[in-house]
Amino acid sequence: MSNTIQKDLNYKKFVIDSKLQYFKPHASKIEKTFAEEIYSSLNRNSKFITPKFFYDKKGSDLFEQICTLPEYYPTRTEIAILKSLQTELPMYLDDTFRLVELGSGASVKTRIILDIFATMQASVEYIPIDISEILAESSEQLLKDYDNLHITGIIDTYEGGLEFLENYDDKKNLIIFLGSSFGNFSPNEGKSFLQKINSTMKPNDLFLIGLDLVKETHILESAYDDSQGITAQFNLNVLSRINDELEANFDLNNFSHYSTYNEEYQRVEMYLKSLTSQSVVVSKSNLLLHLEKNELIHTEHSHKFNLSQVRNLLASTGFKIHHVWLDDKKHFSLTLASKN
Ligand code: AVI
Repeated sequence: MSNTIQKDLNYKKFVIDSKLQYFKPHASKIEKTFAEEIYSSLNRNSKFITPKFFYDKKGSDLFEQICTLPEYYPTRTEIAILKSLQTELPMYLDDTFRLVELGSGASVKTRIILDIFATMQASVEYIPIDISEILAESSEQLLKDYDNLHITGIIDTYEGGLEFLENYDDKKNLIIFLGSSFGNFSPNEGKSFLQKINSTMKPNDLFLIGLDLVKETHILESAYDDSQGITAQFNLNVLSRINDELEANFDLNNFSHYSTYNEEYQRVEMYLKSLTSQSVVVSKSNLLLHLEKNELIHTEHSHKFNLSQVRNLLASTGFKIHHVWLDDKKHFSLTLASKN
């Protein structure tokens, strides 16, 4: 089957106007996956909820709030590095590149790169790939602020979006994956994901990845347990989402946010702790769940790296590194690479 027909079958296309279109998988595909995944991840002894489910509209809004918190250093640090690349990044690009972003969210950092593209190109093409509907909203906002921008959004998982992008056309892509979202994968998943990106890339494409670095434990732990409790709300919101979308009856008052830095595995671990012995029904997953008092539901790992790990990771997944940029405190890294 040709690519185009396959895309037509799997995705619904929304053409908003000549500058904005987006693709979204048919609803049944998403709902089935969510109900099934929740069934298998909660119907076991060590329970977990995959972090990609954090990002409904409310979860995405809460994440945007997290990004502005004083304790959450990654966003402002990465933004500072990006801003310092205004003269350096164009040295690797030309006027035929398009910008592809994995996990665009509210596209705040995108603007810094779009500004760089706009200095080189009369018309800029941008393909954001994001699981959240916030993509449509933020795309419309971007179009208000950039005159010669054309956006094709893909509202899907990263993997789905990459498959969509494969063989899309011959244009060169700068694929960006910022915010250390890579750190939310397990090491094995992460490696396969980088290999997937690598195999999707054409020889002249470029890849820019933001990775958070290992640092003092107290800095890491307060970034994931802020004084205003926004991270706690973000974590608990996944239960509200399951209540709303899968007809479940989680009582949020019976859970608390818990996070800790695991030095051995170099990751911040986030959990929802059951404050009481309780039973919960998740109707659409056909699941009756029992939780003991103090039982933990794992919701997220956020891995942190050192510089040699960054280099090894990219080299072992088929990349050639062009440059690694850091902030003054060496808290965060941005690496530009291409296919080896
Ligand atoms: C999206 N991701 C990289 C964030 C992180 O830091 O792991 C998600 C997050 N979780 C709690 N705070 C932020």
